[in-house]
Amino acid sequence: MKVRKAVIPAAGWGSRMLPATKTVPKEMLPLVDRPALQYIVEEAVAAGIEDILVITNRGKDSMSDYFDYFPELEERLQRDGKLKELEAVRRTADLANISYIRQKEAKGLGHAIWRAKAFVGGEPFAVLLPDDIMRAERPVIGQLIAAAERYEASAIGVQQVSDEAVSKYGIIKADPLEEKVFAVRDMQEKPTLAEKFSNYAILGRYVLDAGIFDILEHQAPGYGGEIQLTDAMRTLSQSGKMVAVDFEGRRYDTGNLRGFLEATVDFALAHPDTGDWLRSFLKAKAETL
Ligand code: G1P
Repeated sequence: MKVRKAVIPAAGWGSRMLPATKTVPKEMLPLVDRPALQYIVEEAVAAGIEDILVITNRGKDSMSDYFDYFPELEERLQRDGKLKELEAVRRTADLANISYIRQKEAKGLGHAIWRAKAFVGGEPFAVLLPDDIMRAERPVIGQLIAAAERYEASAIGVQQVSDEAVSKYGIIKADPLEEKVFAVRDMQEKPTLAEKFSNYAILGRYVLDAGIFDILEHQAPGYGGEIQLTDAMRTLSQSGKMVAVDFEGRRYDTGNLRGFLEATVDFALAHPDTGDWLRSFLKAKAETL
């Protein structure tokens, strides 16, 4: 089983980041030196993914422009001898084969993924939610692909969250299989504290069997009146094999301002051009707080 395709649902309104996201898609907000979406594409590519489908909606054409060639700009950079910039600009267009499809109606994550049916065909495929940005030694989606291959199963990425946070996530019920890998028994979308199966939350990375599409096609609306991916995965986990991987890496929720700022600081600290400078800036700043 080789996972070659990935789907990135990017059809949200970015309402937690307004007004910044009124005209700029939230996926295109810069995290240090590149749009958030580029980190997601790079994670997929680093895990061996070749073809990517981005599910978009109205007002997001800047995403497809970004991953395209820009001859006028490239000629200009070449003429001015700005070769580092030229390489960076060129690289975005050469990262992967990226195609785009619109969701058209805001009917939920499950509905967005269902739009990828023709692109995916019958192969197992990866899903990466762009709000969840990861910093990890091994690409998180690659960790899931490895587990999916080992168990010949679908795989979802989880980590433990606090009691206060469980109602923001898909939550699993699972039995241990080996260190950091579980057999998924059940799942629920955004449960209350009283209902929760566990504190293991699904954090935006999935490897799914293509059988999910037949389930999504008939999936009734769930939490929030939307067609939920979690509800369809629940059915998938009961009819087929599904494992959960407690992945290695730090996950940032960049869909809200605090998570976005945390990611900005941590990525800037790790960046060769800004790391040393930011470290001294923050130290000096901390003394004045
Ligand atoms: C979505 C999923 C949820 C998952 C979360 C991870 O929720 O529906 O199961 O735990 O992403 O970030 P959203 O954040 O879109 O409300």
